[in-house]
Amino acid sequence: MKFSGIVSGLALANAAAASCKPGQHPTTTVAGVEVIDTPIVRAAREFVEEYYKEYQPYLTEHLYRTWLFGAAAINNNATLKAQLDLEVHAVGSLLHDLGWDIKPHSPYVTAEYSFEIDSGRFAMEWIKNWTAINGGAEKWDELRLQKVNIGIMLQTFVGAQDFVFQDSYWITRSVGFEFPGPESELIGAENYDNIWKAYSNSTLFRGTNFTFTNMAVYKPAATYTTFIADFGKAYVSGYDNSENSLFALIQSGLEREVDLYPNVSFVQKIPPNNANPLE
Ligand SMILES: *[C@@H]1O[C@H](CO)[C@@H](O)[C@H](O)[C@H]1NC(C)=O
Ligand SMILES: *[C@@H]1O[C@H](CO)[C@@H](O)[C@H](O)[C@H]1NC(C)=O
Ligand SMILES: *[C@@H]1O[C@H](CO)[C@@H](O)[C@H](O)[C@H]1NC(C)=O
Ligand SMILES: *[C@@H]1O[C@H](CO)[C@@H](O)[C@H](O)[C@H]1NC(C)=O
Ligand SMILES: *[C@@H]1O[C@H](CO)[C@@H](O)[C@H](O)[C@H]1NC(C)=O
Repeated sequence: MKFSGIVSGLALANAAAASCKPGQHPTTTVAGVEVIDTPIVRAAREFVEEYYKEYQPYLTEHLYRTWLFGAAAINNNATLKAQLDLEVHAVGSLLHDLGWDIKPHSPYVTAEYSFEIDSGRFAMEWIKNWTAINGGAEKWDELRLQKVNIGIMLQTFVGAQDFVFQDSYWITRSVGFEFPGPESELIGAENYDNIWKAYSNSTLFRGTNFTFTNMAVYKPAATYTTFIADFGKAYVSGYDNSENSLFALIQSGLEREVDLYPNVSFVQKIPPNNANPLE
């Protein structure tokens, strides 16, 4: 009895996961790319189309390109496509910059956390809010929510996505397609052309430059140990993380330690590889 209960529980869990496998969900075509077309994906699209209209229209285009570059790369690999949760990929890609918001009293921005952390946590909250109204909360268990969170949170932590859930990896990887660099052969020239034609990148970096500099103005403390500090130092008068960088924190620990233990000598013994663990 117990056993059959477990089996049917597993069958249910598999059915929920399978509902987002290719061939088992509706699709549509955007900029020549076949994409998943479920109610929550449609809602995320409507959100990014409406929400950024007035102040950050370049963000709508960035979020669409991110999703579509990723979807094109995934479509080009049938094995991969069959493995992924395309709804997690779509919603995570479309909501990956919630923390860039500049509207008054934004529900997506805090003074305490970096934009990557805010974007991830509020994407989870956005999904929960949506399912609370529209149903389907049981399909968004903690695992799927965290897959979205991790994929978003690691977007600027270069390399970190390589060892996380594959669904999270593909969110971060899709954001990476927006960074300057050579075109990825995973996507293909035709998809690049179609996506750039439909969603122009002509002001992305000027918008990014404003957004990052602005973060160093309105929440400097949350930027001191991040790359946003470079924008603060370059463009914001009075910005100073010299006492709050991780380097500064370690240096002050160092000074206190030497004061406290002046007679404990530290001699670093050097192994034959000259302390290079790669050799
Ligand atoms: C396609 O995806 C699978 C599964 O992730 C991967 O093992 C394989 O290397 C990919 N193939 C190509 C050509 O990238
Ligand atoms: C979720 O809904 C609550 C209640 O309406 C709201 O206060 C909050 O800002 C919403 N969060 C997100 C991320 O949309
Ligand atoms: C922006 O789009 C143009 C095509 O319109 C492309 O040539 C260029 O490489 C893109 N820039 C980046 C950073 O992807
Ligand atoms: C980048 O942002 C800074 C601060 O807003 C501004 O002074 C600078 O002109 C911007 N650069 C470009 C090319 O827009
Ligand atoms: C360190 O050693 C010196 C010389 O032996 C001694 O005078 C001093 O009290 C020691 N300091 C501490 C904190 O143990």
